[in-house]
Amino acid sequence: MRILTIETTCDETAAAVVTDELRVLSSVVASQDQLHQRFAGVVPEIAARAHVERILPVIDEALRLADVKLADLDAIAVANTPGLAGSLLVGVVAAKTLCAAAGKPLVAINHLHAHIYACRMAAGHDVFPCVGLIVSGGHTSLYRCSAPTDFEYLGGTIDDAAGEAFDKVAAMLGLTYPGGPAISRAAERGNPRAFHFPRGLATDRQRLDFSFSGLKTAVRYAIAGPGKPDFAKARLSGAQIADLAASFQEAIVDSLVTKSLLALDATQLPALCVGGGVAANRLLRERLAAACQQRGAQLYIAPPELCTDNAVMGAIAFERLRARKTEALELDALPGLIRSPKDEGARTKGEG
Ligand code: KG4
Ligand code: ZN
Repeated sequence: MRILTIETTCDETAAAVVTDELRVLSSVVASQDQLHQRFAGVVPEIAARAHVERILPVIDEALRLADVKLADLDAIAVANTPGLAGSLLVGVVAAKTLCAAAGKPLVAINHLHAHIYACRMAAGHDVFPCVGLIVSGGHTSLYRCSAPTDFEYLGGTIDDAAGEAFDKVAAMLGLTYPGGPAISRAAERGNPRAFHFPRGLATDRQRLDFSFSGLKTAVRYAIAGPGKPDFAKARLSGAQIADLAASFQEAIVDSLVTKSLLALDATQLPALCVGGGVAANRLLRERLAAACQQRGAQLYIAPPELCTDNAVMGAIAFERLRARKTEALELDALPGLIRSPKDEGARTKGEG
């Protein structure tokens, strides 16, 4: 079987053709980084318009590279939750239209679950059951992943997401968007112990939650001090930027590793799968590898290009297709953040 997968949840327009043996026949990603750079973050309206321009060429290219015609497909899958409303809509409407025109089944993809499935794609073998850590621009969450179609929310950030903190701190330091790679580059020359930044909720062993807004504020105060709102004008030397970036990265990685280990303890699951753009971070990968090795847990992290948004991870759609979970053409985009088990439940309602 071959399916087309479509991903437009945020600011990447992506499409892929994958087989039920999880072979990737093509993968196309059109990034919008350059469009959002001057705003130091994703502007939803700009993202939606760029998706409209790019979606058909990206799908065409994915089909061409895979040497597959629309008629050859067994289904079309699209990420319909969570994400930016306008961005999601473009992918959902494109998928529904193609399904209606070609008479193909439609499959819904949960973008966060797909980020964990990227680990399954990269591993080449089953990775479930596992603890799933999703660290992206909008989400930082821990899940009990009993099976690819059975995710239970264990905890997550109560304010900013890890990627969001990277992006906002990068903007404060005058670094480019997206902030993650820029901070990680600047941190290479810095001292991670130059500043001691807070690890929000890290010492609370009762909660599998994260908090990064205090960390963000601490960086802001380290730059300009409280009561000096014009911190953007603070003149920082290259060495100061490097030290701030390294100390910030150290704090965020520390929090993520601590709570991941706590989730492994709490669930007694044998493996940790990590997905989302921040999982491309080198320090995080190294620290998680060391921590999991010491603990005797298996660690799965996809290569960086499968951590950031892509359509290959949409192969999770095969798991639903096998369970005969296809959608009517009324399928809608469900934007909004997932910040509690209640939110997660609302997205997976009706799944057995
Ligand atoms: O998963 P993703 O591509 O999109 C969302 O679903 O949000 O994640 C994007 C986020 C951005 O905040 C970006 O700064 C961050 O991932 N990111 C990184 C790295 N590469 C991307 N953060 C830290 N280190 C990186 N190397
Ligand atoms: Zn993502």
